[in-house]
Amino acid sequence: MVCMENTKRLCYDNKVILAPMVRINTLPMRLLALDYGADIVYTEELIDHRLIRCYRKVNETLQSVDFIDKSDATVVFRTCSREKHNVVLQIGTSDPERAAKAAQVVEQDVAGIDINMGCPKDFSLKGGMGAALLFNPDKACAILSAVVSAVKIPVTCKIRVLQDVDDTVALCKKLSATGVAAICVHGRTIKERPMHSNRNHFIKAISEALDIPVIANGGSKEIKVFEDIIKFKNLTGCSSVMIARSAEKNCSIFKQDGKLELFTVIRDYLRHAIDYDNVAPNTKYCIQNMLQNIQETERGRNFLESTSLQQICDLWDIGDYCRQKQKKMNCLRFEERDVVCN
Ligand code: FNR
Repeated sequence: MVCMENTKRLCYDNKVILAPMVRINTLPMRLLALDYGADIVYTEELIDHRLIRCYRKVNETLQSVDFIDKSDATVVFRTCSREKHNVVLQIGTSDPERAAKAAQVVEQDVAGIDINMGCPKDFSLKGGMGAALLFNPDKACAILSAVVSAVKIPVTCKIRVLQDVDDTVALCKKLSATGVAAICVHGRTIKERPMHSNRNHFIKAISEALDIPVIANGGSKEIKVFEDIIKFKNLTGCSSVMIARSAEKNCSIFKQDGKLELFTVIRDYLRHAIDYDNVAPNTKYCIQNMLQNIQETERGRNFLESTSLQQICDLWDIGDYCRQKQKKMNCLRFEERDVVCN
């Protein structure tokens, strides 16, 4: 197995990884996961069409790199130097050429590219993306081969298991022959939901059959503390583990010395949201997913009524940090436009 850790090429062996999560894995959450000890952080799935429409802009005020959709000026992907060697961008695609183009758009700013081959949502399936690719292995392999040849950074794919273990192993062997650096396996079939148990024995069989790193996923129901991550790793015989829901609820699951109290996590998250000017609706959505039923409290009810980042920060006693940072950012923006700011 070639794993060139010393040449800065991302290595997928023996890693604990933040799984891709739509709307959750924007920059603040990825930085938070890195703070707490995650080795690799995946972005949310970004659709190839949208990435291809983006242009790259260095944001001097935030010290970030932004990929902005030309058609509506929205920031599709924001990243920064802190995560450059740890971030993997996940693409939703059904076409080799488009996938390769989309990967090239972001190649210089990320450490790896992942192709989503596990999403069971109608939107993905109807477009021939996500889990639809599990049932079209030739297309899946064509996409991976095209991306592997188009970029210099490592490429991975994230799949769900098929109904039969031998079929799943055979599929993984085909996929691995394209030159991917690792395969991530969520141990549920396309029809199975979180309440169904994860097929850890499928992941173990795949891990034994392949000579590239296999990343185990799907264990969050049993992952309450860091030691459970190690148990999941041992159960599946995998070299690495990827975590979604346990991290969505409390990202400090990555801390080897124990989880932090939730409100501390929220404050740490909010500091990154302020620093990178994360939009209020996305910030609110992420905190809502952390709070779950704590939303019934008075603070929770006030939170539900909040509409700005400042209001959210005031509720968690870091309003002053938000005010000062936003003032500084506004000054920097004015300076860029040559206006004096007191
Ligand atoms: C997901 N998942 C997911 N998977 C993926 O490949 N791309 C994505 O964008 C998303 N988005 C997403 C959003 C949210 C809110 C959740 C909870 C999940 C699936 C996720 O990465 C993972 O495969 C499953 O959640 C199983 O892992 P856990 O939760 O048991 O660790």
